[in-house]
Order: sequence, then C-alpha cells, then structure tokens
Amino acid sequence: MPPKILVFAGSIRTGSFNARLAALAAKELMRAEADVSLISLSDYPLPLYDGDLEGRSGPPEFALKLKRAFCAHHGIFITSPEYNASLTPLLKNAIDWISRVREAKEPPLAAFKDRVFALGAASNGTYGGMRSLMALRHVLELGCGALVLPEQIAVRGASQAFDDMDELKDEAIAALLKRVVGRLVEMAGRFA
Ligand SMILES: Cc1cc2nc3c(=O)[nH]c(=O)nc-3n(C[C@H](O)[C@H](O)[C@H](O)COP(=O)(O)O)c2cc1C
Repeated sequence: MPPKILVFAGSIRTGSFNARLAALAAKELMRAEADVSLISLSDYPLPLYDGDLEGRSGPPEFALKLKRAFCAHHGIFITSPEYNASLTPLLKNAIDWISRVREAKEPPLAAFKDRVFALGAASNGTYGGMRSLMALRHVLELGCGALVLPEQIAVRGASQAFDDMDELKDEAIAALLKRVVGRLVEMAGRFA
C-alpha cells in the first residue's frame, strides 16, 4: 500500500511561495507514487487559541477535522513561511489547536505520533525561511513529540525560484526537494 501523505502550507496568502512549494512537493510525492492529499489551511478556519473558549465549548470543529486529517496520513509535508525568524501565527495556531484535541482512549498528541513529518520553506530572504524551519522543528519535536526528518528544504529568492511550469529552476534545489520527498515516502511507508 503506498503511504498516504498530507501536504499543506503555513500561509493562505494569494500567490504564497510556500503554497507553490507545497504544490510542487505534492507533485513530486505523486511522482514517487505516494497517495497525496494537498490541503489549504484556508479550508480549516480557526479562532486564535483561547483557553476560555476551549473550556466553554472544547476544540472547534475545524481543529477536530484537521487533527483527523493528520491521523489519516502516514506522512505530513509542511511548507512554512518565515515571520520574524519563526513560523507563522496561522501555522502555530493550527498546531496548538490540534495538540488540544484528544478523542476517546487516545494518548495525548495522537495526531503527531505514528507518522513522520518533513519540512520545507520558501522566502525571498537570505536564509530561505530556514529559521522558520528551526522554530517549527522545535515545536513539532519538543512540543508535540513528532518524528521530523533531518532532511529539509529552504528555497531562497523565492520570487525568482520557480519557472513557468512551477518547477524549481535551480537544479541543486530541485534535487534536494526530490531527496526530501524520497525520504518522506520511505519513512512514511514504515507506518503504512
Ligand atoms: C510579519 C512578517 C515577518 C517576516 N519576517 C521574515 C523573516 O524573518 N525572514 C524572512 O525571510 N522573511 C520574512 N518575511 C517575509 C515573508 O517570508 C514573505 O512575506 C513570504 O512571502 C511569506 O510566505 P508566503 O509567500 O508563503 O506567504 C516576513 C513577513 C511578514 C508579514
């Protein structure tokens, strides 16, 4: 059975470079014969995490849906924009809400266990969003107990990095994406 891989970006901006990278990662994952679901966080609108809101009515419906989407996949590829050397509030808020969903008899943080995560970033900045990946890795590994691949991709000069076919122009960066994708498929296959 091919591993099921969920792909999404930590940006819902029109023309987002990270959404573009997520779409390309999804394409590469399909080429690697994974069973791929590409989603947008815009389809999972969530209020800013608020303990009082949670206390009153529990996690919102879309937190539950997103958590179930995580649980339905063996691997998750997240592309993460860099905001002030960290991940976006959109992405952190989604992770925070998911971390609060606990369905019957599940251990805590079930959405982050028994699957593998891969990370990518795209930015016009010098670091290509690398610092957001460090922050996201910290949140996923230390905060949520997730297994995160050491291989990752950061795309510099993002506004010029893609060609008309939405492929990466730089051969070395394109090869890196293929390597990350290959490793994700291999590792996710162990959970399939
Ligand atoms: C609040 C804010 C902070 C930002 N900080 C950084 C930063 O620290 N490093 C960086 O490379 N880009 C930074 N940027 C630029 C974003 O990386 C850029 O807007 C990028 O296009 C966002 O990703 P997206 O295209 O996927 O939406 C920042 C943008 C915003 C709005």
